Amino acid sequence: MIRTEVRPETMARINTRELAEAFIAEQVKELRAQIGKDKVLLALSGGVDSSVVAALLYRAVGDQLVCVHVNHGLLRKGEPEQVIRVFRDEMKANLVYVDATDRFLDALAGVDSPEKKRKIIGGLFIDVFAEEARKLEGVKFLAQGTIYPDILESKAGIKAHHNDGGLPEDLKFELCEPVKLLFKDEVRMVGSALGLPDNMVYRQPFPGPGLGVRCTGAITRDRLEAVRESDAILREEFDKCGLAGKVWQYFTVVPPLTSTGVRDGKRTEDWPVIIRAVNSVDAMSATAEPIPYDVLFKIRDRIIAEVKGVSRVLYDISLKPVATIEWE
Ligand code: XMP
Repeated sequence: MIRTEVRPETMARINTRELAEAFIAEQVKELRAQIGKDKVLLALSGGVDSSVVAALLYRAVGDQLVCVHVNHGLLRKGEPEQVIRVFRDEMKANLVYVDATDRFLDALAGVDSPEKKRKIIGGLFIDVFAEEARKLEGVKFLAQGTIYPDILESKAGIKAHHNDGGLPEDLKFELCEPVKLLFKDEVRMVGSALGLPDNMVYRQPFPGPGLGVRCTGAITRDRLEAVRESDAILREEFDKCGLAGKVWQYFTVVPPLTSTGVRDGKRTEDWPVIIRAVNSVDAMSATAEPIPYDVLFKIRDRIIAEVKGVSRVLYDISLKPVATIEWE
C-alpha cells in the first residue's frame, strides 16, 4: 500500500507499456498484502480513474472487490451499458448496478439553481451509495480513484480532497487509493495495460453532475433526452471526423427556452441545441475549437432530423474567461 501522499522524486513517469506493467505488478502485490481476505467497495462511475482502480483491484483481489455503479439518470447515452458490459460481462467483476434515475429526477424536479442542483445530485449520490454499502457484509476497505492532482489541489487549498468519501459515520472504511501518486496520463497508460477499452481510458472530462448541468435550469425528462441524444450525435460525428482525439471537451447544452420555427407547414416552439467544443490544459482557461463548417452542418442536419423538440443548432464560440466551460 502506498502510505505516502508525496510522490518520490525518484519515481519514473509511467510513459511506456513496460513501466505500466511494472506498476501493476507491484500494486497487485501490495494490494493483496493490504487487503488480505477482506472485501473492498468501490463507487464505479465509469470515468477514467474509478475504472482503472476497478480493473487494478479486480486483478489483485478478484471477487473480494464489489463495485457499485449508481446511474443517476444524468449519464451520457450508452454509459451505464458500457460499465456493465466491460466490468460485469467481460471482466466478470462483482458489480452492483443501481438505476436511481427516478429518485434523482424526482428530487431535481422544479429546482433551477445550479448550486442547489449540484447539492441534490451529490447528496443523493452518497445516500444511494451508502444504502448499497449497508446491504453488504464484511467490507473493510473503500477504494477511491484519487489521483495526484487531487492531492496537490487539496494541499494548495484549491478544492477539498474527497478523501473521506463523504460517507456517514456508521460507514467508516479504511481507504485504498492505489493510483493516488499518478498523474492523469499515467493512469491512462495503466488503464490501457489493464486492457480497458480506449473510449474509457481516453475519455474526455465529464462532470460529476453529468448532463444535469447541461439541461440548464429546472431539468425536465423530455429536455434531458434532447441533451442526451444531441450529445450522442456530436460524439459520433467527432469520432468519425477525428476531432474526438483532438478536442479536449465537447458536449451539447439545451437551455429551457424556445423559439419560433416551422415544421411541415406548422408553427413550432422548440428548443435550441448549443454545441460547445473547447480546448484547455487545466480547465482554468479554454479556447473554442474551429470546427469545420461541413462537420457543423452534418451535426446540425442530424440533430434537427433525430432529436425531438429541437429546431435550432447554435455553436458557442465563447472563451473561458469570461464564460465558463459548462453553462451552469
Ligand atoms: P467550468 O464550467 O467551471 O468547468 O469552466 C471546468 C471543468 O470542470 C468540469 N466541471 C465539473 N466537474 N463537478 C465535476 O466533477 C462539477 O460540478 C463540475 N462543474 C464543472 C467541467 O466539465 C470542465 O471540465
